[in-house]
Amino acid sequence: MTQITLQSIQKNYAGSVQVIRDVDLDIAAGEFCVFLGPSGCGKSTLLRMIAGIESITAGDLHIGGVHMNEVPPAEREVAMVFQNYALYPHMSLYENMAFGLRQAKVDKAEIHRRVSEAAEVLQITHMLDRLPKALSGGQRQRVAIGRAIVRRPNVFLFDEPLSNLDAALRVHMRTEIARLHRDFQRASAVYVTHDQTEAMALADKIVLLRAGEGMLTHGSIAQVGAPLDLYHHPRDMFVASFLGSPRMNFLPATVQAVDDHTLTLQTDASAGGERLQLPRQGRRVAAGARVTLGIRPEHLLPGDMGGATLLRTVQQVEHFGEYSYVYLQGLPGEPLIAKVPGRSSALAGDRTPFTVPDPAYHLFDDASFAIAAQ
Ligand SMILES: Nc1ncnc2c1ncn2[C@@H]1O[C@H](COP(=O)(O)OP(=O)(O)OP(=O)(O)O)[C@@H](O)[C@H]1O
Ligand SMILES: [Mg+2]
Repeated sequence: MTQITLQSIQKNYAGSVQVIRDVDLDIAAGEFCVFLGPSGCGKSTLLRMIAGIESITAGDLHIGGVHMNEVPPAEREVAMVFQNYALYPHMSLYENMAFGLRQAKVDKAEIHRRVSEAAEVLQITHMLDRLPKALSGGQRQRVAIGRAIVRRPNVFLFDEPLSNLDAALRVHMRTEIARLHRDFQRASAVYVTHDQTEAMALADKIVLLRAGEGMLTHGSIAQVGAPLDLYHHPRDMFVASFLGSPRMNFLPATVQAVDDHTLTLQTDASAGGERLQLPRQGRRVAAGARVTLGIRPEHLLPGDMGGATLLRTVQQVEHFGEYSYVYLQGLPGEPLIAKVPGRSSALAGDRTPFTVPDPAYHLFDDASFAIAAQ
């Protein structure tokens, strides 16, 4: 069982600005940890530092309790699966998977045992004598994962392994990777993606990273937690807007009044200008404070059901069968989006009410930090 610990990890590329700042992280033995974040935030850099193929500028990396900063990749007992997995075109699938083991002088019977077992798990036994060109993208990706499995690593590292596949195959392979992880429970996995759906589906723990100004001010890690933890309790507006699709709606507002049970907000004139009464739920906020109200698209329910109601002009409706997106007048150039189950009857130009069901809102202070319910 292998635990991975990162302490005060920093990364500066020669001559460039800092790309990783103040990363403190524990990845438990057997855990499936996902690095998520926008392009350029340093996900691959952080993964490559764990693999040992990128140097660590400062801080300490331990794998299984051993200090790893200077240990070469081959001695870390980690296996990495990349987005652009190159299989040897002239070798059969069997040879592709066996190659690394032959190089490591593993004996022939043991190689046969490991390749057969991996092929069984990946359901590619019947095609082991084929060449890579005779495979679909998903089958090739399985061979790339097979090459990692046969090494019996303590840690699997994946860098966007599915992003070259079409949408349906991506979902299929995602469930396969989850199943593999269950089958190999003793191994830890670190998985990089910019796709929040993939992260939510796979992760025991999501590490959401940020880039640019936010990283320099607050460090690289925006929030760490179980997927639903981040979804329901985002620490700030960056986290709130990164998880969930379409993203959370934001309305700037002023707190008009606060009593034990109720908050009264006035949204800015440019954002609708309505007065909204919301349950306070123990939030610590004072009258007069500038805040941002956050409402997820699924929490704008069509109709006036009492409570907090937004009366808005419909700009556009998109139908997806199972649900519809209704675009409502919001901030200039930034419509509010309601995700309505089934086929919405709203039409562009309608002026129509949407209700925020009672507990379902988020509130952020003027520095964009969540003012959480208590
Ligand atoms: N070898 C390098 N030299 C200098 N800068 C680099 C190098 N590799 C990456 N960077 C920079 O470091 C930052 C982080 O890069 P990284 O590849 O880790 O991002 P990422 O989160 O994996 O992005 P993506 O989602 O696009 O793959 C980027 O700004 C990138 O330009
Ligand atoms: Mg990357």
